[in-house]
Amino acid sequence: MRVLGIESSCDETGIAVYDSERGLLAHALHSQIAMHAEYGGVVPELASRDHIRRALPLTRRVLEQSGCTLQDIDGIAYTQGPGLAGALLVGASVANGLGMALRLPVVGVHHLEGHLLSPLLADPKPGFPFIALLVSGGHTQLMRVDGVGRYQLLGETLDDAAGEAFDKTAQLLGLGYPGGPAISKLAEAGDAYRYKLPRPILNSGDLDFSFAGLKTAVLTLVKREGVAHAADIAAAFQLAAVEVLAAKSAAALRQSGLMRLVVAGGVGANRQLRDRLNAEAKRHRFEVFYPPLELCTDNGAMIAYAGALRMADAQPGDGRFSIRPRWELAELGAPTD
Ligand code: KG4
Ligand code: ZN
Repeated sequence: MRVLGIESSCDETGIAVYDSERGLLAHALHSQIAMHAEYGGVVPELASRDHIRRALPLTRRVLEQSGCTLQDIDGIAYTQGPGLAGALLVGASVANGLGMALRLPVVGVHHLEGHLLSPLLADPKPGFPFIALLVSGGHTQLMRVDGVGRYQLLGETLDDAAGEAFDKTAQLLGLGYPGGPAISKLAEAGDAYRYKLPRPILNSGDLDFSFAGLKTAVLTLVKREGVAHAADIAAAFQLAAVEVLAAKSAAALRQSGLMRLVVAGGVGANRQLRDRLNAEAKRHRFEVFYPPLELCTDNGAMIAYAGALRMADAQPGDGRFSIRPRWELAELGAPTD
């Protein structure tokens, strides 16, 4: 089965064609980062308009690259939520419009399920069950994953998401948006031990996270020291965030008795987080899996892939659809076989 996937939940238009026998045939992304950069964050109305501009030309390009025409597509998957309502509506309209015109089944995919299953697009890929660390701009969660749609939330952030903490710290240091890659790059030149930042709720005994206190500590530090030692502050912040993420992931593995960890979402692209988890994996003899690097942040491939696994539950493309800007992952059930 060949699935066209459409992602438009935030500031990235992602399109892909996934073939359940041959794997990912093609994918492409249009990032709106440059457009939003001057505002210091995503402007929803601008995001929607840009998705409208990009979705169809990008679809044409991806089809060409995949060697397929629309007639070769068996089903369409789009991000139904969570995300920005206006942005989601664009992908949903394109998917359902195509579905209606081509008389194809259309399935709405949960964005976080896309992230969660994206490591299955890598080689080697993890088998079930595994622990997933989902770290994106809006979410920080530890889950137990027993199969597609069989997700148990073990812990999550009580306040800011990990990616949000990277973004806010970058803003305080006068770096651009998104903050993750900028912090990571600046930190390379910094001394992570010049300043000591807190590791919030590291020893709470549960699997929850908290990043608001860390952000406030950075704010206090920047007020006191200015940004003359920005690289040292970035390095100290990154070390604190990575230590907490790695320690809680290891605790989730210990508590569940599982030996496989899967890392997904934008912060999963962070080099220091990967180095740290790889070192822990060696020491404690667990395995750790990541999506291919370019599939860590938002993309259409993960939506096409999750859509292929859920195509049995697709609706006929009759032009009726809904979006779900707020949607808990735990609400999902297993797909129909
Ligand atoms: O998964 P994603 O692309 O979008 C959401 O669904 O949120 O994640 C975006 C987040 C942003 O907060 C960004 O700063 C962060 O991922 N990020 C990183 C890195 N690359 C992206 N954080 C740390 N290190 C990175 N290399
Ligand atoms: Zn995402």
